Amino acid sequence: MCGIVGYIGKKQALPILLQGLRDLEYRGYDSAGIAVLDNRKIDRVREVGKVDMLAKKIGQDKFVGTIGIAHTRWATHGGVTESNAHPHIVGEGKLVLVHNGIIENYREIKKQLKNQHQESETDSEILGQLIFENYQGDLMKAVKQALLKVRGTYGIVVMHADHPNQLVAARLGSPLCIGIGDKEYYIASDVTPMLPFTKQVTFLDDGEIASINGDGLKILNMRDEIINKTVTQIDWDQAKAQKGGFENFMLKEIFDQPTVFEDAIRGRFNVDEGTAVLGGLNMTLEQMRDIKRVMIIAEGTARHAGLIAKYAFERLANLPTEVDFSSEFRYRDPVVNKNTLVFVISQSGETADTLMAAREAKRKGAVVRGIVNVVGSTIARETKAGTYIHAGPELAVASTKAYTNMVAVLLLYALQFGRIKHTSLATGQRLLQGLLEIPEKMNEILKQTDSIQNIAKQYQQYHNILFMGRGVNYPVALEGALKLEEISYIHAEGLAAGAMKHGPLALISKDVPVVAILSKDQLYEKMKSSIQEVRARGARTLVIATVGDEEAKEVADDIIYVPDTMELLEPLLNTIPLQLFAYYIAVALGRDVDRPRNLAKSVTVE
Ligand code: AGP
Repeated sequence: MCGIVGYIGKKQALPILLQGLRDLEYRGYDSAGIAVLDNRKIDRVREVGKVDMLAKKIGQDKFVGTIGIAHTRWATHGGVTESNAHPHIVGEGKLVLVHNGIIENYREIKKQLKNQHQESETDSEILGQLIFENYQGDLMKAVKQALLKVRGTYGIVVMHADHPNQLVAARLGSPLCIGIGDKEYYIASDVTPMLPFTKQVTFLDDGEIASINGDGLKILNMRDEIINKTVTQIDWDQAKAQKGGFENFMLKEIFDQPTVFEDAIRGRFNVDEGTAVLGGLNMTLEQMRDIKRVMIIAEGTARHAGLIAKYAFERLANLPTEVDFSSEFRYRDPVVNKNTLVFVISQSGETADTLMAAREAKRKGAVVRGIVNVVGSTIARETKAGTYIHAGPELAVASTKAYTNMVAVLLLYALQFGRIKHTSLATGQRLLQGLLEIPEKMNEILKQTDSIQNIAKQYQQYHNILFMGRGVNYPVALEGALKLEEISYIHAEGLAAGAMKHGPLALISKDVPVVAILSKDQLYEKMKSSIQEVRARGARTLVIATVGDEEAKEVADDIIYVPDTMELLEPLLNTIPLQLFAYYIAVALGRDVDRPRNLAKSVTVE
């Protein structure tokens, strides 16, 4: 996730900005840059790679100036290159900007710009040019007028050579906070870089614009009304601040889900047409119609996301869909050809087995598309086409927010194919409406964190826990079990409830509890019977049920309610209590949640 740092005050800006960038390194980035303003002259340096490389490039250069902005970029639009790195300088070298977020309508804006020359491939530079073309001597006004024309998300800080004592910052969907010192201000995308200098922080809210100069701070909303902000005293140390105040990255990433989910779907659908618009598919309608089969290849959590997509591709697009472990796919004799669409899914984009499987599929002539989180990663580069899931850096080994975003993107792909086949406009629109409601519903679940923690503590002493589900919730059971075993080291299995009586039922006893997903969908009654069967054999049951389902209590020792949604979307909600359940058991057992033993975040070896 990109990081912003800004400073205005009496001290030299360069060392503060450089240190600030280092403090934001934990967010993940692929390039960095700094701009300092002095005497109406802007000095800027940018570099691909680590902040250390940027520092090396600056070398002995002085970069004198007491006002400046800096950025670590995590590529979304445009590759990882120096010219795509921020800060961007536009408008005859006068205006400089750093931007986090995504400008959805940047193509439309670009068409309307007087200056059609861009130095980079980024939406951010277009935003900078739009601000410059609105500038008539008042920087804050220019920023506001430009932002009124923008659709998307932003956290921006802008500096202008003719305003040597002013920074303008604005936020919509991408956090920015302002640290208040003695006649000096620090701006950053989180509080981490400012903590060594001040604990007094004010947080910009969506739709607010701040004009900051050495003497004061003025914050307006989009209607030009003055906003009186409260100043918060931050008592976190830097390590805690990096985790957004959470104890671990995993918990932070679980809580990131409603926000990053919006990033996964934003600008990728058309409600009027009831369809998805994933440019990364890069296929004509005719080529899409030639696809006869879908194959999904991935490992671990990414494979579970793929298993959910199987239901969507079959139901919406009538396409036979197979899901395989990358490690198996590459060593069997997969039957694929030019009519097979192969999705390779990977958070890191570096998983060796998945990369090799992608190469194998390409070699066999399949149409291969990547669904990847890390921009510029090997799988993203080699597959050339596909879609980034925009989950932001995922630092905990246990994957959480990448999973929900993978599912979101895959559902959109299934819908895009569905709409050129038999999915009706009404079904497409209902699915999109359902997706738009997901973030709010995720928040409803996250509000129950305390009660989920209490339930989790009661399961920490078991040595084996089974998870069971049916239909789209079978992969949810697999994911719940994987989360639990990888961070708590408790043995866990995910099972298809209908398969219990063909063997696994023998495992059931009072010492083996069962976590069951019982959604109010077409398999409700069958699922309920399966829960009754394990209960009758002594198992304690934790049931994930739909809000309002009082009957579910009949088969539950413990119960967690999640909001109702369309059947295909249920996994997006049902998985979240299981992530929290695993997390709190692991914490109760004193495990190293973010770095579980024997595991690595990115498995780059076979
Ligand atoms: C999930 O929590 C895991 N740590 C692991 O299973 C992971 O999903 C798998 O290794 C695949 O990684 P990738 O998405 O980076 O390819």
